[in-house]
Amino acid sequence: MSRIIIFTGKGGVGKTSTAAAHAVKAAEKGMKTLIVSTDMAHNLSDIFMKDIKEEPVEVIDNLDALEIDSNYEMNRYYGSISKAIKSMMPIKNEQDQETMEDIVVFPGVEELFSLLKIQELYDKSIYDLIIVDCAPTGETLSLLKFPELFSWYMEKLFPIGKVAMKVLRPVSKAAFKIELPDAEAMNDIEKLYVKLEQLQKLLKDRRVCSIRLVAIPEKMVVEESKRSYMYLNLYNFNVDGVYINRIISDDVDNNFFDHWKEIQKKYIEELTSAFTQLPIYKIKWYETDINGIDGLERIIKDSLSNEKIFNVLKNTNSEVFEKTEKGYKLEVHVPFTNRKDFDLYETGTDIVIKLGNFKRNIPIPNVMRKYLVTSAKLNDGILNIYFE
Ligand SMILES: Nc1ncnc2c1ncn2[C@@H]1O[C@H](COP(=O)(O)OP(=O)(O)O)[C@@H](O)[C@H]1O
Ligand SMILES: [Mg+2]
Repeated sequence: MSRIIIFTGKGGVGKTSTAAAHAVKAAEKGMKTLIVSTDMAHNLSDIFMKDIKEEPVEVIDNLDALEIDSNYEMNRYYGSISKAIKSMMPIKNEQDQETMEDIVVFPGVEELFSLLKIQELYDKSIYDLIIVDCAPTGETLSLLKFPELFSWYMEKLFPIGKVAMKVLRPVSKAAFKIELPDAEAMNDIEKLYVKLEQLQKLLKDRRVCSIRLVAIPEKMVVEESKRSYMYLNLYNFNVDGVYINRIISDDVDNNFFDHWKEIQKKYIEELTSAFTQLPIYKIKWYETDINGIDGLERIIKDSLSNEKIFNVLKNTNSEVFEKTEKGYKLEVHVPFTNRKDFDLYETGTDIVIKLGNFKRNIPIPNVMRKYLVTSAKLNDGILNIYFE
């Protein structure tokens, strides 16, 4: 089964360099590899010193590269759809205001098409490994949670497929205050909906997709890495590796760096203790920036010697339903959180967990619908929700 590994982290921490080093290593091992950048600030072209565009080009033996242009993707596939989605989004109504808000805060529907492109390439089964150099963390998270929000929203609005949509059209306009798209766009929306569902499955399939966090030993980055880890767990994605980049090596012998070494040491320790359950890779701060295959080879040699690096390195589900004596228990992994951060409620069909700006709807399996949530407890980063 081929794999997808997504690298994410704050801007400038070394995502592209780390992702590219993995890609080169995989290609050298003989894996047919693709590196994809979804970051609008593309720089694969710089690092591989080759003109890279919106369709894959070969950069070395076994390695193709691609810089996704989400607008290009959107136009290529779904002519009328972006207009339709946008016309559906910004309208609020009383009952479902919160749902709408969630969708409206999404920064740009366009980004979603980057992920769909990756899915399309995955489905073609050309590559053993697809490495994704993703946009900075905040955007990545919106990107990852969007398919879920969108599917959920579509289900509520168009519960029974196309026939119902047609019947619904005159009604929903009044009931939901939403401009329904014309028939052609509707067809596209349906196709998109199906694809989004598959995309969700693919990105959450722990045998296929891993997410790796790239960080540097610095206060703000450490904080953000912990936050992303928490949210990615909340949405049940598999994070299975952390990279600490730009570490000043011990042999740097210059007083100016003494204090910086101390600071780095502190944050390396903090990252190490925060992510004890994950493999951690350390990358040193080189004296020049990382350019060309030579630069990447240094990272490979110094930090990525582990031959299992492309495997799934951690595989615990962050969302588990369990039978208990009186009913059921739902366990959701939400590391680094406090009890007061949460808001938790039931909608009849879903459990809703609100955490900061994020809202996760976990559908309740049919067998559990007759039970009620009686209590919830947070223990060591695991939220236990009891149904009795
Ligand atoms: N370990 C390192 N040593 C030296 N320069 C680095 C290192 N990691 C990254 N760089 C340089 O820092 C800049 C940002 O790295 P990049 O991989 O593009 O980060 P991101 O993709 O997260 O924005 C680039 O110029 C890169 O060459
Ligand atoms: Mg980059």
